Amino acid sequence: MGRVTGLYFSPCGNVERIVRTMAAAAAERLGTEPKFADFTRPMARKKDYRFGTEDLVFVGLPVYAGRVPNKIAPFIAAGLSGSGGAVPVVCFGNRSFDNALAELFSLLHQNGFAIPAAAAVVGQHAFTAALATGRPTAEDLNAARAFAVRAAEKWTEGAWLSQGDIPGQPDAPYYRPLGPDGEPVDFLRATPAVDYGLCNHCGTCASACPMGSIDRDDPGKTVGVCIKCQACVVKCRRGARSFTDRAFLSHRAMLERDYARPAENVFIV
Ligand SMILES: Cc1cc2nc3c(=O)[nH]c(=O)nc-3n(C[C@H](O)[C@H](O)[C@H](O)COP(=O)(O)O)c2cc1C
Ligand code: SF4
Ligand code: SF4
Repeated sequence: MGRVTGLYFSPCGNVERIVRTMAAAAAERLGTEPKFADFTRPMARKKDYRFGTEDLVFVGLPVYAGRVPNKIAPFIAAGLSGSGGAVPVVCFGNRSFDNALAELFSLLHQNGFAIPAAAAVVGQHAFTAALATGRPTAEDLNAARAFAVRAAEKWTEGAWLSQGDIPGQPDAPYYRPLGPDGEPVDFLRATPAVDYGLCNHCGTCASACPMGSIDRDDPGKTVGVCIKCQACVVKCRRGARSFTDRAFLSHRAMLERDYARPAENVFIV
């Protein structure tokens, strides 16, 4: 019965791994083949994604500042709807998912989906490999598989969650990054620096940027909005890109000091 799709925004790849794992497990449980749609790149967000009553969609996003990434929320609100089932999935980097799962639940519910299950899964933090290193691990992905099988069963049973089952508030304020002294820091205007001694103008970073904000002719030039996703930093094979902004680095130092403990995955089903 039904079609299963994994749909995701995943600049650095963690959300993609989690959602593909879940969709594949749910499809197997329902005796069908999974489909996938990646809306990380700007072009993929120019079209609408509409699903019917026979569809079960796993929708995955990273947590940014305790919420759904603010540049992506309008696309979810306007471009993704359906009359079948959806499973909201957020991935967070060991600090907290705060209100992100509640917000994604609310967006999907408003757009017509019934929701049998929801999850917040830990992934290595895009800002530093020192937090949640190597996660999601094989163990995390096994748990994600078991969750997805149960989500598929709940969908066939017609057993739905409501907003009150999800921790957090959909419209709570964004988390404000702090420095090691506990004071707020602001790196909204920060952009990646490029070491031209290392850069070979391969174009990988420009292709990877989910906002299309890197100049292909001069990869050191940021020509649009930078959401600090780190895709360009992580995907540059020459190690030529980095964030050198002082406020960004002080926030990263705070995270490494205060959020080193392993965070727990949350599966609501
Ligand atoms: C701009 C930005 C803000 C983030 N904010 C949070 C946060 O509030 N809480 C948290 O635990 N992780 C946070 N993270 C970590 C990401 O949620 C995590 O690295 C996730 O795995 C990224 O998904 P991806 O690999 O699919 O890009 C943030 C990462 C970025 C890039
Ligand atoms: S990915 Fe790295 S090496 Fe390639 S153009 Fe970008 S900065 Fe230069
Ligand atoms: S320029 Fe900014 S938005 Fe684009 S890939 Fe790099 S960190 Fe992400």
